Amino acid sequence: MIPNEFIDDLLTKIDIVDIIDEFVPLKKSGANYMACCPFHKEKSASFSVSPTKQFYHCFGCGAHGSAIGFIMEYQGSGFKDAVQFLADRIGITVPKQAGHANLEERKLHKQQKKTLEDTITSVADYYQQQLKLSVRAHHYLQQRGLSDQVITHYGLGYAPDDWQALAKVFQPYPSNALVKTGMVINKEDKYYDRFRDRIMFPIRDGKGQVIGFGGRVLDKGEPKYLNSPETDLFDKGQNLYGLYEARSAIREAQRVLIVEGYMDVVTLAQFGLGYAVAALGTATTAEHIRLLMRQSDHIYFCFDGDTAGRKAAWRALENALPQLKDDKILHFLFLPPEHDPDSFVRTNSIKAFEDALIHQSLPLSVYLWQTLTQHIDLSTQEGKAELIKTASPLLSKIKAPALSYLLRQELSQKVGIDEHNLAHLLGQEQPKQQRATVKSYRLPQNTFRQPPVTSLAQKQIRALLINPQWAVYIDIPDYLDLHGEYACLAVLAERIQASAIPLNVGAVLELMRNTEFEPVIRKIIHDHLDSADTMQAGNEDDCETFKQGMQKLLDSLKSQQIDALKRKLQHGLLSADEKQLLLLLLSPSKTPFS
Ligand code: UTP
Ligand code: MN
Repeated sequence: MIPNEFIDDLLTKIDIVDIIDEFVPLKKSGANYMACCPFHKEKSASFSVSPTKQFYHCFGCGAHGSAIGFIMEYQGSGFKDAVQFLADRIGITVPKQAGHANLEERKLHKQQKKTLEDTITSVADYYQQQLKLSVRAHHYLQQRGLSDQVITHYGLGYAPDDWQALAKVFQPYPSNALVKTGMVINKEDKYYDRFRDRIMFPIRDGKGQVIGFGGRVLDKGEPKYLNSPETDLFDKGQNLYGLYEARSAIREAQRVLIVEGYMDVVTLAQFGLGYAVAALGTATTAEHIRLLMRQSDHIYFCFDGDTAGRKAAWRALENALPQLKDDKILHFLFLPPEHDPDSFVRTNSIKAFEDALIHQSLPLSVYLWQTLTQHIDLSTQEGKAELIKTASPLLSKIKAPALSYLLRQELSQKVGIDEHNLAHLLGQEQPKQQRATVKSYRLPQNTFRQPPVTSLAQKQIRALLINPQWAVYIDIPDYLDLHGEYACLAVLAERIQASAIPLNVGAVLELMRNTEFEPVIRKIIHDHLDSADTMQAGNEDDCETFKQGMQKLLDSLKSQQIDALKRKLQHGLLSADEKQLLLLLLSPSKTPFS
C-alpha cells in the first residue's frame, strides 16, 4: 500500500499539464488547456486539462481523473506503476516499495534488471543459434510449414536436449541471473536448465526486450508447452505473445487479432496475416484487453472451436466488459470444433480465414445475447426473469455509456419491461455501491443528452469536488443513518478534512479510488461537470449556497430519520436508545444542527 499522504504530496508536486502534454499536445484556452480527446474519436477539442485543479476531463466522452488516472488510462498501467512513473519524473521516492527506498537502491535495482535483460537476451541468441545446428528441430518447424523468414521474424530457437546446455555458454553456471530469469531451476542444491529439447518461442515486451519463453516439445510429451515462470521481467497478465512483432501489421490492417496458441500466431504470420497475438498460456486478462485497445479500435478474438476455446472466449468477454469503450469494436470468431487458426488456414486458406474473421465473426453484443439466451425460453415469464438475472451483473460491468445504454434497451425489449422499471429492478438487485454504475447509462453529451435529474446530495458532492476547501463547512452527526450519496458526501468530507495539506481536485479523486463510492463520484463528474462553466471554482455566493445546501441536506436527513423512527414506534419496535434519539430529533431547541 502506498500511503495517502504520499499520493497527496505527489499530486501537488507534479503538474498534470506537463504530464499530459507529453502524450497529447495541449493548447492553452482561457484558464485551461484543450486537446482532442485521446480516449475517444473526435474532430473538435473537448478534452480539457485544468492546471489549478490538476484534473483532466473530456466533455465529450466523460473521461476524467488525476494525473495518476491519466497515466493508468493512457498507458494501461496499474495504479502502482502509474505512481512510480510520476514519482520518477520528479525524482521522489515511492515509500514502502521494496528496492526503491532511496536513489542508491533504485540505481541498484535498475542495474539488476539490466543484468537480467542482458542474460535472457543472450539465452535467446543462443537458442536461435542452436536451432540452426539442430537438423531435427529445424526439420520439425519445416514440417509444420514455417519458413526461415517467419522463424527469424519471431526469433524462434531450440533448447538442446541437455540438462545443462546453458553451462556451455554461461560461466559461471549457474549464475544468479539465470535462476532469476527462470532459465535455470534450482532443486535440492542441483541446478539444471528449465527448457530442454524444446522449440523456443521468445516472448517480448512492448519495447522488444525478451522477457520469457514458451517452449514446445518436438514429439509427444508433457507438458506440450512449458512457459517461463513469472519473474521480475515477466508478468503474464500484462504481456501478449507476438505483440511486438505484430505492431506494424496492426497499424496497417487497423485491427488486432487475439488467438490461443503461439503456433497460431506464427502460422498466421507465415501466411501474411501479421496482426495476431496470443495470451501467455493464461486467460485473456482485463489488462490484456486494455493493452489491445491501445493498439487498435477493432479487436478480434478467435479461439479454438472446441469447448475449452468457447470457455476461453466467454472469459475474455467477461474480462472485456469493464474495459469497453464506445469507439472500440470487439468481435468473436468461432471456428469449427476440430480447428484452431493454424489448422484452419492450412486446411482451407488464409483468405477463407480472413473472410470468416471479417464477415462471420460476431460483434460482442450478438455473442453476448446469443450465449445468454441459448438455453432460455423467452416466451415464458420464468425465462424472462432468468435472463434479467444472468444479464444484469454483466451489463452492470459496462462503463461505455452508449453501448451500455443500447444493451439495456435490448434487454428491456427482450423481457418486455420498460427501461425505467428495468433500471429500477436492476438497481435493487445490485449491492449498494454498484447502483450508481448500473444507472449511469446515459449517452455521451452531444448525442441525445437529457438533462440529468440532480439530487441535492449530488450538487453538494459536485461543489465539494471542485472546492475541496469547503469541507470545513461539513459536519454530519454520526448518529444519522447515512447511505448512498449521503454516505459518499460524508466520507469525502472526512477524508479531505483529514489531509494535512490543501488538496487539488485530482488529489481528492485519488482519495476515493477503490472505495465503494468511486462509481458515485464518477457518475457525478460525468453528469454534472460537463462544461468549462460547471468546472469553475465557486465564489463567496456559491459558498453561501453550499452552506445552505448542507443545512437543507441535514434537515432532510433528520426528517427521514424521524419518519423511520416513527414507523418503528408505530410497530412497537423502538429500542430505548432510539426513543431517546427520536426525542432529541423532535425537540427543536435541542437539535444539534439548528
Ligand atoms: P494448444 O494446445 O491449442 O496449442 O495450446 P497450439 O497453439 O495449437 O500448438 P500446436 O499447434 O499443438 O503446436 C494453446 C496455447 O495454450 C498454452 C500455450 O500458450 C499454447 O500456445 N499451453 C498449451 C500451455 O501453456 N501449456 C500446454 O501444455 C498447452
Ligand atoms: Mn495448433
